Amino acid sequence: MIHEHLHENNNERVFSDTSRNNAEFTVERAEEYIRENKGNVAFERRLTYHATPPVGWTNDPNGFCFAVGKYHLFFQFHPYSTEWGPMHWGHFVTEDFIEWQWVKTAIAPDEEYDKDGCFSGSSIEKDGKQYIFYTAVCGDRQNQAEAVSEDGVAFEKKGIVISSDKLPEGCSVHDFRDPYVFRKNEKYHMLCGSKASDGDGQVVLFESDNLDSWRFVGVVRKDDKPKSGIYECPSFFTAMGKDVLITSPQGYVTEKYRYGNVNSSIYSVGQLDLNTGVFTAESEDEIDGGLDFYAPQTLAAPDGRIIMTAWMQMWGRTMPTASDGWAGSFILPRELYLKYGKLYQSPVKEIEKYRRNGVFYKNVSFGEHTALNGVSGDKIELNVTFSIGNAEKIEVRFFEGENEYASLFYSGSDNSVTFDRSKAGTEISCDPKEKDAYVRSVKLSGNDGEISMRIFLDVTSSEVFINGGEKVVTNNVYTNEKGKGVSFRAYGGEAKILFLEKYDIEL
Ligand code: FRU
Repeated sequence: MIHEHLHENNNERVFSDTSRNNAEFTVERAEEYIRENKGNVAFERRLTYHATPPVGWTNDPNGFCFAVGKYHLFFQFHPYSTEWGPMHWGHFVTEDFIEWQWVKTAIAPDEEYDKDGCFSGSSIEKDGKQYIFYTAVCGDRQNQAEAVSEDGVAFEKKGIVISSDKLPEGCSVHDFRDPYVFRKNEKYHMLCGSKASDGDGQVVLFESDNLDSWRFVGVVRKDDKPKSGIYECPSFFTAMGKDVLITSPQGYVTEKYRYGNVNSSIYSVGQLDLNTGVFTAESEDEIDGGLDFYAPQTLAAPDGRIIMTAWMQMWGRTMPTASDGWAGSFILPRELYLKYGKLYQSPVKEIEKYRRNGVFYKNVSFGEHTALNGVSGDKIELNVTFSIGNAEKIEVRFFEGENEYASLFYSGSDNSVTFDRSKAGTEISCDPKEKDAYVRSVKLSGNDGEISMRIFLDVTSSEVFINGGEKVVTNNVYTNEKGKGVSFRAYGGEAKILFLEKYDIEL
């Protein structure tokens, strides 16, 4: 049986399959299955402007890149059920990060050396060909493997390029995965998630001149927090002279306003010495303060933008859409910026092409309850700037029906935003180490009596960019009533909507 779980005590994710005949998992069989079954997927709760698998289960984005003339998004994919299983790579291409075309399953676990799964990895172009690097899982071994394509559609596997035997002493051979390959200073570099033998999470660096043979360079970062597991899914980019390392650590220590999920995603700004692997960090923070964000990966676009995608779900959660034939999707890709050493995020500008039916308001004071004509919908962008006035707290409700809704609260006293889906009508599970699967808060930095929120709703997802992308919270909401209402409340006084614009997003 295939199983996936977090060990209670050490946050270790165990993937293993002891009973399977792998000849059954091929790209052709996956494609046939998708063709025959995608028509059976229920569309009611599916997202409309987010990449979502045609059928089955998905987790991490993989191989997010610009190669052979197109943007590609591969992803961890188990077409045959809505649960995690033998991992394949699904594959979309896009021109604008909003409309996604299914290509075909890129790789399946059809070789002896990857028979237990083609785990996460990355993609890069070299000499007009597209390469993917992934973790080939076989029993309790994780090795890095390569596949190549002439056309960005059909991939041919080239075998293992880094065996875990190449790891120096002190690195676990069982947790060595998620290669992220990039080019800098005339060389190729690969970051991998790893674990030290003492159980601490770490990231390791390799280098190569040709993508085929790799040398170990060093340990990039090792965890200094107690009880963290492997750092999964590293990613990396350079902006404004700074290096930014992205990883998804398991079991990061929860703080009041950060790292509320057992699986968090963090960024560190600093300098990576590519000759030694040493990363000197100047700052670090969580990337997204919501319940449903994991395993982000970035690409450098030809126009100079750094664009990030991520899994818009979380390990350990109930997947209400599993009964609809699909589970898991990806965020609206975001442009990343550094400002004063902090990461700012904004949705890709291409989303503005899809705005329809604009509705605008200015200077609307509100107290107990206000709903505005034309301000509703479940596939919308809502931009609103509030003046807090003398209110202690303000609330925005969305996906609101008669009894069910999700809320965002801004609290003036601690300058924080709290998302709450406990009234949304669906029970969601979480890892036993998390306080709940309903409420998360983020702390804002500036406090000048105003707050802005840019909210994107897509049937069952919500992404909120606060104060120009200083904080972002990503949360799925599954109501039974499927309400489309939006309303505003001020507590303890009056607040004001200084400016509001709302658009339907239509593809
Ligand atoms: C992260 C992860 C990766 C692994 C993949 C397996 O979510 O655990 O480390 O490669 O999922 O599907």
